[in-house]
Amino acid sequence: MKNIKILAIESSCDETAAAVVENGRNVMSNIISSQIEIHKEYGGVVPEVASRKHIENINDVVEKAMETANVTSEEIDAVAVTYGPGLVGALLVGINFAKGLSYGWQKPLIGVNHIEGHINSNYIEDLNLQPPFICLVASGGHTHLTYVKDYGEYEVMGATRDDAAGEAFDKVARSLGLGYPGGPLIDKAAKVGKRDAIKFPRAIIDEETLDFSFSGLKSAVINYLHNSQQKNEEICVEDVAASFQEAVVDVLVMKTMKAAKEKGCKTVALAGGVASNSRLRERMMEECEKYNYKFVKPSSLLCTDNAAMIGCAAYYKYIKNQFADSSLNAEPNLKLTNPLTITK
Ligand code: KG4
Ligand code: ZN
Repeated sequence: MKNIKILAIESSCDETAAAVVENGRNVMSNIISSQIEIHKEYGGVVPEVASRKHIENINDVVEKAMETANVTSEEIDAVAVTYGPGLVGALLVGINFAKGLSYGWQKPLIGVNHIEGHINSNYIEDLNLQPPFICLVASGGHTHLTYVKDYGEYEVMGATRDDAAGEAFDKVARSLGLGYPGGPLIDKAAKVGKRDAIKFPRAIIDEETLDFSFSGLKSAVINYLHNSQQKNEEICVEDVAASFQEAVVDVLVMKTMKAAKEKGCKTVALAGGVASNSRLRERMMEECEKYNYKFVKPSSLLCTDNAAMIGCAAYYKYIKNQFADSSLNAEPNLKLTNPLTITK
């Protein structure tokens, strides 16, 4: 069969990214232009600023992805783009750019779900990985426990009922005065803190559900800080960071292992920005070793928003003839279970 090369574009949040991926797993280029330095000033992503920056960057990023891969437009078989979930203005920049290329180059268009992209980053990390597997997707906007039944087939077994795991990291980091984005800063501070210094709650919700809830934990940390300040007690930022992180990781690991057991599935994977967390990776690895499960964790570059993961997911749609047409629109609240399947 002919080798399939896909140009993929991702602009759902604050990273403008483009990649060329061959046959789903061979990443020929993976260019990411991050806006973190700009949004840092505001303590979070400003949607309007993100859209404007995507417009400024997208042409260069796509050109660089094509140049690095050393391919011409004739060699590209399809153009893929994230169409949700994400910030509507940011998504529209990528979608319209992809539509323009698809029309100009006369190549099919493929719409990809951003969360599906994160899950698929594991296929790039581990070239031998095959479904089924359990994947915990934890990022700034999502916390999903998914059962990957087959390529492109997902069952959401649990999701957050309030804050996403990354959002909790970001908000707690802000309360601790650590800055933005909070996840990596808490991860670093926690390395020298005591994990059992403060007993923060573990939101199990109930024994049955695989859903998550992090807003109670976030409030517990904020209350702890307020109480300590009122009593003029010294706050050890590292201890708070380590104790908070342990509470998040405990629940993420526990529910992921429960999901694997429920499905009788012996492969566990991580995805999304929070999957970079060193303690989460360590604990999940220990737990998987205990049960003799295979454990896949994408490199930090593949955990963050990138377009290679979109190109990978798009390949499995390409081979099933799941193409989009020019009516493709941004879907800010796109769910993992409503894939775009316009079949030609
Ligand atoms: O997947 P991502 O790059 O963007 C979204 O789709 O949201 O995830 C960004 C999130 C942020 O909340 C960031 O604080 C968190 O991932 N994050 C981390 C770490 N690195 C990034 N959280 C915990 N530990 C980390 N090392
Ligand atoms: Zn993401």
